Amino acid sequence: MQTITFIGNGNMALSIAKGLKENYKIEVVGRDRKKLDIFETELGVTVQKELLTGFDITGKTLLLCVKPANVVEVGAALQGKARVLYSVLAGTTLESLRANISSDAVVRTMPNLAASVGRSMTTLTGDAQFKEEAQKLLGAIGSTRWLSSEKEIDIATALAGSGPAYLALMAEALADGAVKQGLKRDDTMAIMRGLFGGFGELIQDIHPALLKDGVMSPGGTTAAGYAALEDGGVRASCMMAVEAAYKKAKELS
Ligand SMILES: NC(=O)c1ccc[n+]([C@@H]2O[C@H](COP(=O)([O-])OP(=O)(O)OC[C@H]3O[C@@H](n4cnc5c(N)ncnc54)[C@H](OP(=O)(O)O)[C@@H]3O)[C@@H](O)[C@H]2O)c1
Repeated sequence: MQTITFIGNGNMALSIAKGLKENYKIEVVGRDRKKLDIFETELGVTVQKELLTGFDITGKTLLLCVKPANVVEVGAALQGKARVLYSVLAGTTLESLRANISSDAVVRTMPNLAASVGRSMTTLTGDAQFKEEAQKLLGAIGSTRWLSSEKEIDIATALAGSGPAYLALMAEALADGAVKQGLKRDDTMAIMRGLFGGFGELIQDIHPALLKDGVMSPGGTTAAGYAALEDGGVRASCMMAVEAAYKKAKELS
C-alpha cells in the first residue's frame, strides 16, 4: 500500500484522509502530539504519527494541509527532498511551494467546502506527470478537474471555491422570499434543502438554459419570477462576483 504523508492535522487533512484510509497507509506530521492522537481517533484507523521539526521527507508523497501563512515556517522545519508535494493551500503559488519545500514535483490543488462531505469540486494544476495520481488522490473527496495553468486555477477558485457562499446567499434569499409570502420558516428550510438537493442532481446532465426552459411555461409563474430576477440584475451580479473574486485571488497571490 502506498503511504501518503499529511503535513498538518486540521480539518482539510482529516477530510482527505477519511477518503483515502481504505486504500492508502496514512502518515501524519504535526506540531502537537495530542492533536495527532485526536486526528487518529477521529480517522478511526491506526496512522504513523510524527512531529514536524526535523521530519525527513525524502522520497515521500506529501499532502500539505497547513495554512498559507505557515509555508515558510513548515518548510524550514522539514529535511530532505520529497517525491511529490500536493498542496491544498489557497492562493499559494507553485513558485512559492517550490521555494519553501524541496520536492521533485509539485501539484497545487484547490478543494472546496464540500470536501467535508466527500463532495468537493477540486481543481488541480502543476507538474503534469502527476496528473493521474493527483486526480486519484483528490478524487477521494469528490470530483476533480485538471487545469493547465495557475491563472485558470485562480479563476476556478472564484467559481468553485467561493461558489458555496454564492449559492448559500441564493438559498437564504429565496427562503426569505417564501417566508415573506407567509410560508413557515421550518417548512421553508425543508423545501429549500430539497430544491438544492434535486437541482444538484439535475444540473449534472442538463444544461442550465434547458433546465430553465423546461420549467418556464408561456405567461406562467416561473416566467414572472424569472423576469424579476433579471430586473434585479442577478445574472450580471453573478458574473461580477466571479470577476471580483478572481481579481482578489490575483492580488493575494
Ligand atoms: N477548509 C476548506 O474548505 C478549504 C478549502 C480549500 C482550501 N483549503 C486550504 O486547506 C488548508 C488547511 O485548512 P484547514 O481548514 O484544514 O485548516 P485547519 O483546520 O486550521 O488546520 C491547519 C493546520 O495547520 C497547522 N498549523 C498552523 N500553524 C502552523 C505552524 N505555524 N506550523 C505548522 N503547522 C501549523 C495546524 O496545526 P495545529 O493543529 O497544531 O494548530 C493544523 O494542523 C488551508 O491552507 C486552506 O487554504 C481549505
